[in-house]
Amino acid sequence: MVINYFELRDPEFRIEMHLFDTFAGIPQAQIRPDEPLAHWHNENNYAGDVKERVVSLFPADRTTFHIGMVPDTLSGFKGDRVDFISLDMNIVEPEKAALEFFWPKLRPGGILLIDDYGFQKHTSQRNFYDRFFDASGAIPLQLPTGQAIVMKRSG
Ligand SMILES: C[S@@+](CC[C@H](N)C(=O)[O-])C[C@H]1O[C@@H](n2cnc3c(N)ncnc32)[C@H](O)[C@@H]1O
Repeated sequence: MVINYFELRDPEFRIEMHLFDTFAGIPQAQIRPDEPLAHWHNENNYAGDVKERVVSLFPADRTTFHIGMVPDTLSGFKGDRVDFISLDMNIVEPEKAALEFFWPKLRPGGILLIDDYGFQKHTSQRNFYDRFFDASGAIPLQLPTGQAIVMKRSG
């Protein structure tokens, strides 16, 4: 929807997307004891047969699907700059790896969207992000949706 909006406003606008997912739920080995909700997500939220449907929703000429487990798949991204990052893997370990990989590549003024930041049962993710951004002086801005955004200020 966001992409369609920008393209309607500006026919020259062209965004390249890199989407990372196992398409098999959250890897058991990455779930920490303080993340019990991850097991519930695996049992209730992730159907095994959505890959083709999801792939069909994105423009094939500018979307790359990196299918498999983050962090193993991160090296498939060969670029050195990104404009927008969205993290929504429900647990700390792969989100930490993805943030450490992509945050240095985010351009100044670029936005990070953190999906689970404000949710009571995702406190280990929130604690991780607060510690990570404390060190750089940035503060995640929590949205009414429970998500948070962080704007990168400089290099
Ligand atoms: C809440 S859904 C988000 C779906 C969609 N990517 C989005 O952002 O709207 C969480 C997704 O994270 C994926 N996931 C969890 N751990 C992962 C990991 N280590 N590597 C890749 N994908 C992972 C799951 O398969 C699941 O599809």
